[in-house]
Amino acid sequence: MSNKMWGGRFDSGPDAIMEDINASIEFDKALWRQDIAGSRAHVAMLAKQGIIEAKDAATISKGLENIATEIESGQFTFSRALEDIHMNIESRLAETIGAAAGRLHTARSRNDQVATDMRLWVRDTLDLLDGQAAALQSALAEKALAFAGAVMPGFTHLQSAQPVTFGHHLLAYVEMLGRDRGRIADARKRMNENPLGAAALAGTSFPIDRFMTAAALGFDRPTANSLDSVSDRDFALEALAAASISAMHLSRFAEEIVIWTTPQFGLVALSDKFTTGSSIMPQKRNPDAAELVRAKSGRIIGALTGLLIVMKGLPLTYAKDMQEDKEGTFDALQSLSLCLAAMTGMVKDMTPDLKAMKKAAGSGYATATDLADWLVKNLKMPFRDAHHVTGRIVGLAEARKVGLEKLSLAELQSVEPRITDAIFDVLGVEKSVRSRVSYGGTAPVNVRAQARRWLAKLKREARKNPS
Ligand code: ARG
Repeated sequence: MSNKMWGGRFDSGPDAIMEDINASIEFDKALWRQDIAGSRAHVAMLAKQGIIEAKDAATISKGLENIATEIESGQFTFSRALEDIHMNIESRLAETIGAAAGRLHTARSRNDQVATDMRLWVRDTLDLLDGQAAALQSALAEKALAFAGAVMPGFTHLQSAQPVTFGHHLLAYVEMLGRDRGRIADARKRMNENPLGAAALAGTSFPIDRFMTAAALGFDRPTANSLDSVSDRDFALEALAAASISAMHLSRFAEEIVIWTTPQFGLVALSDKFTTGSSIMPQKRNPDAAELVRAKSGRIIGALTGLLIVMKGLPLTYAKDMQEDKEGTFDALQSLSLCLAAMTGMVKDMTPDLKAMKKAAGSGYATATDLADWLVKNLKMPFRDAHHVTGRIVGLAEARKVGLEKLSLAELQSVEPRITDAIFDVLGVEKSVRSRVSYGGTAPVNVRAQARRWLAKLKREARKNPS
């Protein structure tokens, strides 16, 4: 049997393999809400413009509402023979309301329909992600405030570099997430135009009002070029790019959690809530959630790469290749959503081992820079000379297998006779972090101020857009 939606000049149905490769219903059914919203906006506009009768429009709109209820309650039967969500819904509409259903597809095409549905889905999902990223920022900022003065090692090359505070480290991710949210907001703003009414590719001769459907669907305006409207997926690419960058940030944090929770580092512990045990090694507590957040960045970045490759050789306008935009986009944005939720859970759940952190902060001669800075400030030494003198002092401490603060004044003076015992003031890790008061530095007073600034900002935002 030929397709009842477009089979006019077809005598027979498709080969089974054709159906396998062509059907998208298994994944594009995720668009059902958007498809119904788009159709209802379209039909109301057709009636308002006198293109179809108000009575037919009302019947269609009511029929679509009933279909939404069927889908929502799991009573709708999706058919692969009907290819995709658009034809599944339209076909069911014909079954339930009869002839009037045939008027819905006036002055539109599946090409502008699917572009509209996808934009709506991506836009709504970006809003969800933004809210989740804000929740993660709040969890991080709360924790940062609580541990603004907790000294831990700061690393470069994963080697102890200088002491920092745990709060400062957590706020670094709050900043990253702030920029991630900025990218999400940018993508949302640019994509929020209505492709509906571009029809197949060239627009339509019917007197449609694209501004009306734009307003009904929450778009800022209609898209201005019909060819562009049906043929670009840059809005999905931008969302995936923003998601990829955010996933990369989360993956780095996940990697840190994996490292910090090893018995060897032992800086942080997760509870039973976000770890698993081993079926053979009773002592194990594995940070699976963090590992999966780290791994999921792979599929998110993969979806971006995949869609870029799908799109890059397509001549204007629509080509069926573009049906391949969906699975990757859905999967990637939903994965990011899960990662954000898991990260928020882990941040709330994690407890720093303050003693271990402080001990680790002092290892590896992490206050050597403080010593060099003291020489510069107190002895007016050029920094390069101070660096050299400090290097010799570190060598001495290393030979004696003690920390810098454990060297005697006589030992220090054997390298630089002008050193006084005032130097011991800067050699402790707590003094070190307290002295880093430059704007953006790790001093606990700074960390507290920044954490409070973020929490106030996040609270203001939440009040502005309650979800
Ligand atoms: N399922 C199709 C897609 O996702 C809908 C558009 C079909 N358009 C067409 N001209 N065959 O791209």
